[in-house]
Amino acid sequence: MVGSINMDLIMGTPRLPVLGETILGGPFSTAPGGKGANQSAACARLGAAAVHIGRIGDDGFGRQLLEVLKAEGIDTEGVLKTPGTSSGVAQICVAGGDNSIIVAPGANALLSAGDVRQSEHLFREARAALFQLEVPLEAVAEGLRLAKAREVLTILNPAPWRELPEEILSLVDVFVPNAIELSQCAKTANRETAFERLLGSGVGAVVMTAGSDGAYFASDHLSGHVAAPVVEVVDSTGAGDTFTGALAVALGEGRQLAEAVRFGVCAGALACTRLGALPAIPRRPEVDDLYERSR
Ligand code: RIB
Repeated sequence: MVGSINMDLIMGTPRLPVLGETILGGPFSTAPGGKGANQSAACARLGAAAVHIGRIGDDGFGRQLLEVLKAEGIDTEGVLKTPGTSSGVAQICVAGGDNSIIVAPGANALLSAGDVRQSEHLFREARAALFQLEVPLEAVAEGLRLAKAREVLTILNPAPWRELPEEILSLVDVFVPNAIELSQCAKTANRETAFERLLGSGVGAVVMTAGSDGAYFASDHLSGHVAAPVVEVVDSTGAGDTFTGALAVALGEGRQLAEAVRFGVCAGALACTRLGALPAIPRRPEVDDLYERSR
């Protein structure tokens, strides 16, 4: 809902170069992405009425990205054009299904608390509000406050990781890190201790994504693990975003946490079977089908 919009510059490579080395890679493609846009698109493809609040640059990428969001059926009233600034881009290297990403935030870095406040009305009808950390913390904090004030379920995917003020954690209903982000946030590599620390800091529930191992979750009164279905991995880029969007949709539909995590795991697994982030997000019938078969 509130988050980044990037153009992904995707390059296949047999391996990642070491510092100072040049290697031959390819193929190369561009595709829409950005953790925020991916998560909004996942919500839309899985049947929710999605709105997005963010910033694009005043360039060709920005125009293309806006068209893509509209074509996905996302309400783009809260997407602002930023004069004199380039759109966010992500350089993604895909090697053997895994990836490494460098993001140049561009216009995403200019999303302000005021921009989010200006779109306050978009929170009114929402069932869930999604946030990540590719836009300034002040915009994330303002969105969390607005959502909380309207009793909208708040979900934070703390990626890419950066230190979070206590206030932000206390406003999060569902915290969705991967294993690295979890240990960075909780300052321990022990998953259970990390879950306890986060729940103690005011987060309502923690859901840790674990790639081919599925996801682990905990709240005050329950904890568990959902295994991932076995799929042929082409590119895992954006699988976490698809997971988070699917989790939001399922929770918004009233599913219990464990079932919502399972829905997310199925959606995330399907996203790994195709190249790219946003283009690889599955549609509802596919996810429902895998979800039923995984019961
Ligand atoms: O999570 C994947 C996303 O991270 C990519 O789409 C890229 O834009 C970066 O934001």
